[in-house]
Amino acid sequence: MLSPEDLMAELKNKQLPTFGTNQERRDRLRKFHGIDPLPRDQSYDLGYGQDNQMFNGKQPLQQQQQFPNIQPVQQQKAQEYQSEKQNNVGQPPIQRKLSVLENIQKMQQQREDRRVKIEEQRANKKQRELQNEAAGIKVDADFDLMIEKSRLSQKDANPHTSTVNMKISVCVRKRPIFAKESQSGEIDAVSAANPLIRVHEPKFRVDGITKFVENHNFTFDNTFSDLESNDQLYRAAIQPTIHFPFNRGIVTCFAYGQTGSGKTFTMKGSNEAAIRDIYALAKTQYADKQPKFYISFFEIYGGKLFDLLNGRAKLAVLEDKNQKIQIQGLEEKLVDSETDMISMIEFAHSERTTHATASNDTSSRSHAICQIQVKEGNGKLMGKLFLVDLAGSERAADCQSNNRQRRLEGAEINKSLLALKECIRSLDMRKHNQDVHIPFRASKLTMVLRDSFMMNAEKTRIIMIACISPGSSSADHTINTLRYASRLKENPGQGGLELAHNPLQQNHQQHVPQPISQPPAPIRYQPPPQQQQQQQQQINQRPQSSIIHQDKPDSQIGGLRARGIGGGGGLANVGRMIMESGSKQNLTSVEEQKQPPIRKQWGDPQSQQQQQQQRRPPIPVPQSNSNIRQQLPHNIGQNNNKYRNEVDAIENAKLDNIKVREHDELDDDSDGSEIGGDREDEDDKLKAQQRLKSKAQQDWNYLKQTLGGNKNNGGWKNQQLPTQEELEDGMNNEDILDLHEKVDNILEKEEELISQHMHLIKENAQLLTKEGELISYVQENDEYEVEEYVEKMSMIVERKLDIYKLLNNKLQEFKKYLREEEEVHNMTVNKGGFAQKR
Ligand SMILES: Nc1ncnc2c1ncn2[C@@H]1O[C@H](COP(=O)(O)OP(=O)(O)OP(=O)(O)O)[C@@H](O)[C@H]1O
Ligand SMILES: [Mg+2]
Repeated sequence: MLSPEDLMAELKNKQLPTFGTNQERRDRLRKFHGIDPLPRDQSYDLGYGQDNQMFNGKQPLQQQQQFPNIQPVQQQKAQEYQSEKQNNVGQPPIQRKLSVLENIQKMQQQREDRRVKIEEQRANKKQRELQNEAAGIKVDADFDLMIEKSRLSQKDANPHTSTVNMKISVCVRKRPIFAKESQSGEIDAVSAANPLIRVHEPKFRVDGITKFVENHNFTFDNTFSDLESNDQLYRAAIQPTIHFPFNRGIVTCFAYGQTGSGKTFTMKGSNEAAIRDIYALAKTQYADKQPKFYISFFEIYGGKLFDLLNGRAKLAVLEDKNQKIQIQGLEEKLVDSETDMISMIEFAHSERTTHATASNDTSSRSHAICQIQVKEGNGKLMGKLFLVDLAGSERAADCQSNNRQRRLEGAEINKSLLALKECIRSLDMRKHNQDVHIPFRASKLTMVLRDSFMMNAEKTRIIMIACISPGSSSADHTINTLRYASRLKENPGQGGLELAHNPLQQNHQQHVPQPISQPPAPIRYQPPPQQQQQQQQQINQRPQSSIIHQDKPDSQIGGLRARGIGGGGGLANVGRMIMESGSKQNLTSVEEQKQPPIRKQWGDPQSQQQQQQQRRPPIPVPQSNSNIRQQLPHNIGQNNNKYRNEVDAIENAKLDNIKVREHDELDDDSDGSEIGGDREDEDDKLKAQQRLKSKAQQDWNYLKQTLGGNKNNGGWKNQQLPTQEELEDGMNNEDILDLHEKVDNILEKEEELISQHMHLIKENAQLLTKEGELISYVQENDEYEVEEYVEKMSMIVERKLDIYKLLNNKLQEFKKYLREEEEVHNMTVNKGGFAQKR
């Protein structure tokens, strides 16, 4: 290390200038020797002598003491410098100077390029903003441009694959973005090019400023862009299977997706096209069998079934001894023309439980199931077509709502969509292992679609249409929808042939066929004027609950009533029961007030009076006699036997109403039992209900185990192992499953409570009649026996007290269930459960 004096001497010796600080002098000397000057901080740390072999290479003691803690850094940097210097040895200084210049020029060029690029981006952004402004679109131009760059091109789209050979086909349809969405800042964040679909999710980096777009890619059997019409979708996805219902097959088509994503739009369009085709086929290819079409249309709302072609009459689901699921009371209407069929479907849609949401004025809150049965002229069943418009998938997330009504609704939807996914998945797994259990009894939805899952594989087709909204703010819902759809079968998107042999293959080309029927001009059924008047009258008279179930605050039982749980029957049934059982004389005024409203029915050409006569009796929820007996208090003495008898009589009358309809059968894969159409006796019917209840519980447990369990406790038995995503998925959250159970319990107990209440009202009416007779007798006979009067009256009062006590017990019990559900809900929310992923 040179001392300052030595440094000065050295500089003079080399005839170099001596001005400046010691550091500058050292740098000058280094430069002279062809060594780059050290950066200021390094030179300060390292000193001159250390990094130059010319000098003594020792660090001054003074500096070592001054900066003991930076010793290792000094050494490391010194070594780096040393090796750099060695690399430069031998290069003439002029050459090094050139490379420095080149580097500077390169950096300048890069800076210039960057500047031009930023300018370009700004200009593009400005231009886009002006364009958008002119079009009334108020979107973030940065995201808009970024998304545009990563969009899938329609040019790359493949032709659609026919679904004829896919037992399960999964397709996705993107609806167009609406002007009002763009005006409110929504960017079209989805692009589709069959069979791909890409969600462009706009995001911010952690700094909260830098924007970027995350692209999520999915492949399905078919994807449909917003430019493709209902007809194009129908021709690719549904039409190839339209022969199945004429050949002892079942086709089930589902529309799944969040609210406002186009499920109803898609299903209505597909329904019309399918109906045109089946009527065309009936007149041509299958004319020799003289096919006839029977339609039923019902909705599942809050775990209950309502007939949409019969004034929302409440329906019950039973399982017969041959393990076939029967929908007791469901109307099946023979429809002669496609025009009538289409207008009936319109009508049924208008009967659905709807609710206005931000994205859809008539958002459906239920699963709507349209069943078209094809029967030969001789009545033999040829096959079925199910068109299912599912409730909005995001409703499932409502089970975290603070409003109990929404919670019950959401939990029910969640449960059924979960069961549906597992049933379809299990069906898909059957191609590897025939023994895979299909838990179709785990929800009402899958229960009523049992045949779609259990039929002979060669003859059923399941088509899932996942509908998605393009808006950027829906990107997470869209991704969840696509995830749900992608889990329904192994390798969706690999399309092609899934069945070794297809009996109907000869009927089809492998590519999307041409329309069977030419779409006629749009047809709308217009009932005759008289009929329209009747319908309007019926609508006006319909109880509020069956028109639109409005959003009400959390009012527990009131809330349940508001949304129609408890049935379209509800008070109307109570009124009718009073009328049927009570004395006419005493109930005249009640009858006037509680005349059951006439149910709106699809335009029957009969008079209103005829319609009333034809109206089906209310469908009671059957309960076993023993149950009712158990509910009678034990302290009712012998004199009260007549009340027991009356209870039995009521129950028997209820049973008389249960007409399990004869069942037309198709080939069946399930349980090996012979499918019978015999009428079952009453006991069998009660047993059927019990059987179904316990089996439903078993299937639910199976589902719970499958989803919530792990390999050690039997979870994932016979199933694909869950992906990491699924394990983190809220659908598998045990708390949610627990909540479902509580909700189920509430729905079931609510039914019991209402049935008990109706029973009480009826009995009360009978007691009132007796009271009236007694008081008339006392008033009309001066010589009445006061003991007899007191005895009779106390019997009536006792009985009244008993039945009210009974109802009160039920009410207290019900409140307990509500509290329990509330607790589980709060616990889950506090734990941060309810992931909304599906
Ligand atoms: N492919 C499409 N082309 C044009 N308009 C569409 C399309 N899909 C949906 N729409 C329109 O979007 C709106 C919402 O659609 P739709 O009622 O079918 O949604 P949804 O999925 O049934 O919603 P919800 O679950 O709330 O019932 C409707 O006005 C419908 O006409
Ligand atoms: Mg809808």
